[in-house]
Amino acid sequence: MTPAEGWRRLSPCKWRLACLLFVLAVLLIGGLAAWRHARDGDLLRSDPDKALADPALRESAVAIARPVFAGRCAGCHGDAGQGVQALGTPDLTDGDWLYGTGAPGEIEYTIRFGIRAGGRHSWNLAAMPAYATLRPYADEPIPPLTPAEIEDVTQFVLGLSGRVENAAAAGRGAILYQGKGGCFDCHGASAEGDPSIGAPNLRDGIWLFGGNKAAIHASIARGRAGVMPAFDPLLSPLETRSLAIFLAARARNPNPDKAP
Ligand code: HEC
Ligand code: HEC
Repeated sequence: MTPAEGWRRLSPCKWRLACLLFVLAVLLIGGLAAWRHARDGDLLRSDPDKALADPALRESAVAIARPVFAGRCAGCHGDAGQGVQALGTPDLTDGDWLYGTGAPGEIEYTIRFGIRAGGRHSWNLAAMPAYATLRPYADEPIPPLTPAEIEDVTQFVLGLSGRVENAAAAGRGAILYQGKGGCFDCHGASAEGDPSIGAPNLRDGIWLFGGNKAAIHASIARGRAGVMPAFDPLLSPLETRSLAIFLAARARNPNPDKAP
């Protein structure tokens, strides 16, 4: 019996059953698509900061974001988003933010436009000057520091996280920090950092490029200007929004499916 003959031989009763199953399947698939469409619309229409507090929207965002993060972000930020010091990528799970306070809207902005990524909207308000060069900073006339001064200011920065090696040098470094070096201008008078320009906190023990003496010395002598690519328009608005809510939620709770 060929398949066609098999269909013809179905009794009217079985035909009805087959039709019913077919209609049910179509309704199910259509319903699912409509639900997803409505959910995606809700995520896009919502204020990203409010969506974080809405359990249903947050769960949807996390589900959409996880595979996108694995495919697009983990290569630089690490599988769990913990950062890779050799690449100068920040830990995205620790609640410590270079830019802003970790609100989803702020994170979304960084993902869309990047950091020093070249675009008009990209974050590019400051970079770390290279103090061992003749012209440490392109944007402002900041004077170079001598090798001895760089050593002193390195000792001062070590001391900020409780690791004084040479108190006299650290004392001279403190004066350079507030004076000739101009460090206070970007990192703040108490080295607490400035999240409006992406200048890191230097006293919290969290390091973008490494916190041992050699890494701190290299940051000061050679400068730093990490680049985060812009993902607009590589990612859809829904993917970007979902990533921002996911990262904001995970920085507040390691299990972002639960309450932030
Ligand atoms: C090519 C490497 C690279 C890729 C890919 C990348 N990033 Fe980044 N990202 C960086 C670097 C480097 C920085 C830090 C830049 C700096 O020094 O200020 C950064 C910074 C960030 C920040 C700012 C964190 C803060 O503390 O304010 C966020 C948020 C971020 N990345 C999210 C993402 C997301 C989400 C993706 C995937 C869509 C992604 N990144 C992909 C390199 C990358
Ligand atoms: C014009 C602003 C500016 C000035 C002045 C400045 N910094 Fe920075 N500094 C930054 C920025 C921005 C970064 C982060 C660079 C990046 O993300 O790539 C940074 C990074 C650093 C880092 C690396 C931090 C880490 O987490 O790895 C150290 C250390 C540092 N600065 C120390 C100093 C000291 C000491 C001085 C003074 C001698 C100084 N900075 C002056 C803007 C500045």
